[in-house]
Amino acid sequence: MYRTNTCGELRLSDAGREVTLAGWVQRIRKMGGMTFVDLRDRYGITQLVFNSDSDSELIEASNHLGREYVIQVTGKVAERSNKNPNIPTGDIEINVTSLNILNKSEVPPFTIEEDTDGGDDLRMKYRYLDLRRPNIRANLELRHRMAFEIRRYLDSKGFLEVETPVLIKSTPEGARDFVVPSRMNPGQFYALPQSPQTFKQLLMVSGFDRYFQIVKCFRDEDLRADRQPEFTQIDCEMSFVEQEDVLQMFEGLVKHIFKYVKDIDFAEPFPRMTWADAMRLYGSDKPDTRFGMQFVELKDLTEGSGFAVMDDAPYVGAIVAPGCASYTRKQLDKLTDFVKRPQVGAKGMMWVKYEADGSIKSSVGKFFTDEQIMEWLKRGDAKPGDLMLILAGDTMKTRKQLSELRLEMGSQLGFRDPNKFSCLWVIDFPLFEWDDETQRYYAMHHPFTSPNPEDIDKLDSDTGAVRATAYDMVVNGNELGGGSIRIHDSELQDKMFHLLGLSEEEARYKFGFLMNAFKYGAPPHGGLAFGFDRFVSILAGLDSIRDVIAFPKNNSGRDMMIDAPSEIDDSQLDELSIRVDLDEKK
Ligand code: AMO
Repeated sequence: MYRTNTCGELRLSDAGREVTLAGWVQRIRKMGGMTFVDLRDRYGITQLVFNSDSDSELIEASNHLGREYVIQVTGKVAERSNKNPNIPTGDIEINVTSLNILNKSEVPPFTIEEDTDGGDDLRMKYRYLDLRRPNIRANLELRHRMAFEIRRYLDSKGFLEVETPVLIKSTPEGARDFVVPSRMNPGQFYALPQSPQTFKQLLMVSGFDRYFQIVKCFRDEDLRADRQPEFTQIDCEMSFVEQEDVLQMFEGLVKHIFKYVKDIDFAEPFPRMTWADAMRLYGSDKPDTRFGMQFVELKDLTEGSGFAVMDDAPYVGAIVAPGCASYTRKQLDKLTDFVKRPQVGAKGMMWVKYEADGSIKSSVGKFFTDEQIMEWLKRGDAKPGDLMLILAGDTMKTRKQLSELRLEMGSQLGFRDPNKFSCLWVIDFPLFEWDDETQRYYAMHHPFTSPNPEDIDKLDSDTGAVRATAYDMVVNGNELGGGSIRIHDSELQDKMFHLLGLSEEEARYKFGFLMNAFKYGAPPHGGLAFGFDRFVSILAGLDSIRDVIAFPKNNSGRDMMIDAPSEIDDSQLDELSIRVDLDEKK
């Protein structure tokens, strides 16, 4: 037997027991004639003591221990004189009577503790060592518990987990596909699924009624903190449902997870906001509703002053930052620099200080009277001591810029507490999004999303105004998930492809299998998918999903540990009938 107990298990009540532990050497300290070793495993840390009473062979052996050695020790549990209240085993130590070195270790390239000295790339290269750190391990434990609870909830509601293929047909829509060459079909390629969307719809045609899958998805898109090229979805679909059924079912799932994983109860239904309101009040389809600071529209109040920045702009919007009238010139300049960064893209920022004594100072004071400015402050419900920040320009662009400024102010004011959770449904998304560059409409969600029945008559006449039966779940300003009621009528689906600029031939080539299936009795159906990595990282209070994925990729899509992607042998290329010509490409 390698061990009688784990390193996180022993307490004062075990004093006097002889135990055997196995684990990794975290730290060695020599004091006087004693050697203290922190022994670590998945469950915790236990202090070992080699003292001068130990036999000389044992002391000699302990002198040869190094960090991350794998050892087995036997000894007696004893009460510690110098207790450590920070760890659960802090009341005891093991007086070692026998030591067995199971494996040596080279000196690790960074310290394996909660706060490490390893940079990102180094930690990723040695991810198996990084994963020994307790905080990263805790993230994966959280991930496991969440997956378990998700399955428990969905199973209790009659959902079946069905696996769908990973080698499918390339039909790029939103992102680029990752493709896989087929040896048996030279010149032909599979694609890795961006989501199991069409398969889950086919399962509905097959009568499965309630499907889910915790499933890997693949998208060749630009990476960010909340995006990986391969990520995991909680993918769900239901038959004979309307939007309300879907929202209730999955609001239940989110509440179940918060309750059983975080012990947080949401008594009230999650608020719902239309996409149009989200854009108007927050300039974002995923507003962070942990704090207010909703937009205040001022265009009508600023008209005709002769100040071109406002007069020429179709939109003038503001936010009120509570208690910030005391911001210095330097702080305001910094905020101006913030909105002028290329990522935000504003030309400049205007401000009004509503001083604590009721007086007004403003960067646009020479164009407006105090009375006029007071109207703006009133509309924004500003109080003495508050600061109003104003942007002007093209409506959609300026709203997005103001959204960035709002989030920045929210962070500066400490309103974005990672331990506070605010969930929101955003509903009534537009069905289409116009792209100036290609001069065509794209599906805002995906081409299988059903138009809002009230708007079907506008499909031809006012295409851009048609609302979709689509919804997103937003948590703390993150898009946690999204879905829609699907089109189940092949005629409407044909029409949708047509509006998206797909010829009949193209539509048949790409989605013929689905259109055929719909001829054989497709039930009304709908569903959604949550980003599982995002869900875990939000509950862990982390900014990046990388920390909740065992073996993630870096921002260039590279796995630093296994060094992938990599070139392949000529013989492999030959088998696949593929020729790589990098020069030609250049
Ligand atoms: P959508 O494309 O909105 O919908 O994806 C659903 C959720 O998946 C997560 N997500 C990602 N997470 C990490 N890295 C990525 N690159 C990434 N891309 C998306 C997000 C997102 O909300 N088939 C539809 C769902 C449906 O209609 O049922 C779909 O895939 O959290």
